[in-house]
Amino acid sequence: MLIRPRRNRKSKAIRSLVKETQVTANDLIFPLFLEDGNNIKREIKSLQGTYRYSIDTALKEIEECIELGLQSFILFPAVQENLKDKIASYSYSDKNFYLQYIRKIKETFPEVNLISDVAMDPYSSDGHDGFVENGKILNDETLDILGKMSIAQANAGIDMIGPSDMMDGRVQFIREALDNEGFTETSIMSYSAKYASALYGPFRDALESAPKAGDKKTYQMDPSNRLEAIKEALLDEQEGADFLMVKPAMLYLDIIREVKNETTLPVSAYQVSGECAMISASANNGWINLEQGISESLTCIKRAGADAIITYFAKQYLQNLRK
Ligand code: PBG
Repeated sequence: MLIRPRRNRKSKAIRSLVKETQVTANDLIFPLFLEDGNNIKREIKSLQGTYRYSIDTALKEIEECIELGLQSFILFPAVQENLKDKIASYSYSDKNFYLQYIRKIKETFPEVNLISDVAMDPYSSDGHDGFVENGKILNDETLDILGKMSIAQANAGIDMIGPSDMMDGRVQFIREALDNEGFTETSIMSYSAKYASALYGPFRDALESAPKAGDKKTYQMDPSNRLEAIKEALLDEQEGADFLMVKPAMLYLDIIREVKNETTLPVSAYQVSGECAMISASANNGWINLEQGISESLTCIKRAGADAIITYFAKQYLQNLRK
């Protein structure tokens, strides 16, 4: 035998020389669930190790994450049911605690990169990402609301707007709305290829934001489709997005690679709540090794082509690296 590939695997030292992919703090974005109040740190039952924070505990959590090297955070609001309505008006109200939290976090840690969520579902009495009329999700009526929400968030100092709603034309609509108000520096990380997935369960538990009726299949994508993902990604690029996202990640590694090959924009991948829950739950049952499961999943998402990974494991992964 002239060729023995195992020679390049024979020691840890050699393996580390030939390692092609390594996930570091620079690649990671940490999601934080926020609620109005003080001194709250409430665990999400279906996603152990992930919490809902009030502003004081959130600031403490962010400080610990910064110490581990994390620089980017994506923020989601849990809104009280009585503040929800058909037009998500609380999303752009001055009273919105989420906007106040963004301000406070930027004031305390000006160097961090904060990414928002733009979609109606946390604020909508229908629990849908868009405006509902007679059971239908209306596209263009939704855009106006998303525009207002984006401007309110930009005004609060957000660094990147994160439209997660999958309405048509929303990236351009939001870009123009921001520019018209002078927010030309505010970026857009678009959820470009977002699939109608079973894996968002724990997230909807965390925010109590599940649809009250129907499903999200008229706006989120069919898991069967590949070409549509490329179409959505390229449209968002043309409409002025700064970052494209594929979501979920682990079951969609082929899509991450396809999108990466089609664009010169950075691509992010969202390892969603259900993906992290699957890994945590098997580890809790003693069926897989948690540390290895986290590391392997993140490495493979990066290998598939993700420049940045949103994951509930970000902090834990970096803590593991330090061990
Ligand atoms: C809402 C939104 C969802 C997620 C991010 N933004 C849920 C949904 O579309 O129903 C899911 C993230 C996760 O599961 O971790 N627009």
